[in-house]
Amino acid sequence: MVKIPVFEVEQWMDEYELTPGVLNIAETCACSVSISELSELSSSSAGDSSQPASSIIDFSRPMTYGAILGSDELRRNIAGLYSEEGIDNASVAPEDVIVTQGAIAANHLVFYSLVGPGDHAVCVYPTYQQLYTIPETLGAEVSLWKLKAEDGYVPDVSELEKLLKSNTKMIVINNPNNPTGATIPADILTKIIKIARERNIIVFSDEVYRPLFHGSPGPPSALSLGYEKVVVTSSMSKAWALAGIRVGWATSLDKDIIKRIAIARDYTAISVSQLDDQVARFALSDAVRPALLKRNMELAQTNLALLDTFVQDHADVCSWVKPTAGTTALVRFARGDGQPVDDVAFCKDVLDKTKVMFVPAGLCFGHERDFRGYVRIGYVSDTEVLRQALKNLSAYVAENLK
Ligand SMILES: Cc1ncc(COP(=O)(O)O)c(C=O)c1O
Repeated sequence: MVKIPVFEVEQWMDEYELTPGVLNIAETCACSVSISELSELSSSSAGDSSQPASSIIDFSRPMTYGAILGSDELRRNIAGLYSEEGIDNASVAPEDVIVTQGAIAANHLVFYSLVGPGDHAVCVYPTYQQLYTIPETLGAEVSLWKLKAEDGYVPDVSELEKLLKSNTKMIVINNPNNPTGATIPADILTKIIKIARERNIIVFSDEVYRPLFHGSPGPPSALSLGYEKVVVTSSMSKAWALAGIRVGWATSLDKDIIKRIAIARDYTAISVSQLDDQVARFALSDAVRPALLKRNMELAQTNLALLDTFVQDHADVCSWVKPTAGTTALVRFARGDGQPVDDVAFCKDVLDKTKVMFVPAGLCFGHERDFRGYVRIGYVSDTEVLRQALKNLSAYVAENLK
């Protein structure tokens, strides 16, 4: 039997997110939309009357398993994301896309079908725990490629070269990164791809926070860099604010990788809910996608500015590398004497006294407490929730940390 370690961040969320009156700034999804809001967004992009919410789902359709790998229209809309706005130029075809139940299932399938005993994988760190724990549980050896605050959490390629072994099968990156909110820029991505190509290593890029880049258009998807052995995962949860429909995907230009994922998926999914597929294809359609992304980008930018002001106003106890993308930030809290807080005790006490919820990074993102004193804040919540949470947190800090 495979021994699976606790997925710390998911346990923390499960335990505290339903606390009565909670001000949740732990959530990593852009503030979720309802189906009614989606339908309203369709009008603002088309400039005429909106598509009624009741017409998004075809109620007359028999509830069979549906298209096994995802509907053609959904796979076409997803493929289109990789040739958008001049950033990406990957010619991804619908057949290169496999729809899954969230990126979490896509990630699992990537590892399940591509790594095992005798293989070595390198994974950026910190990141979503699944990305290094699952290859380990499958019997692979995993080396952590440590991201440093002094480098702005951008991976150092010279470190990667030192970590590679003759049996390295996969390099795992997460761009934009959870929890740091850092972006791997195009020049570094190109170097990673070059190293991988020279050694015939698969590059697996979890791009679930793409394309929420706060400033410039951001780097291309790893799929766009001309190397076939790249597999990318993403989903509707974060940038598209639709975690509740549980739609994600794995994409690769390598036919063998896609085939292997499809074979493994037959044993674990069969298909994704037809209802979810219909909502996802509507959200990614030309009539809705630009307006939905605009909403989420504006929310991210407005909220990041609020968090930035908070960090600056409390610079005596608070520090960070300001995120460049995504929905999360890693913030370090210390007492007046400079000693980092005990992040688990701190998060529990803040929740208890102020109802503000965030995540202890030492527990949820670190081996051997590498991130002592750090918390992960998911700031793309409803703006009023963030405003109130930061107000309460200011009062807490004044009373307890100074
Ligand atoms: C980096 C990363 N990948 C994957 C996931 C899973 O997301 P979902 O299954 O909702 O698409 C998450 C969720 O927090 C994440 O942060």
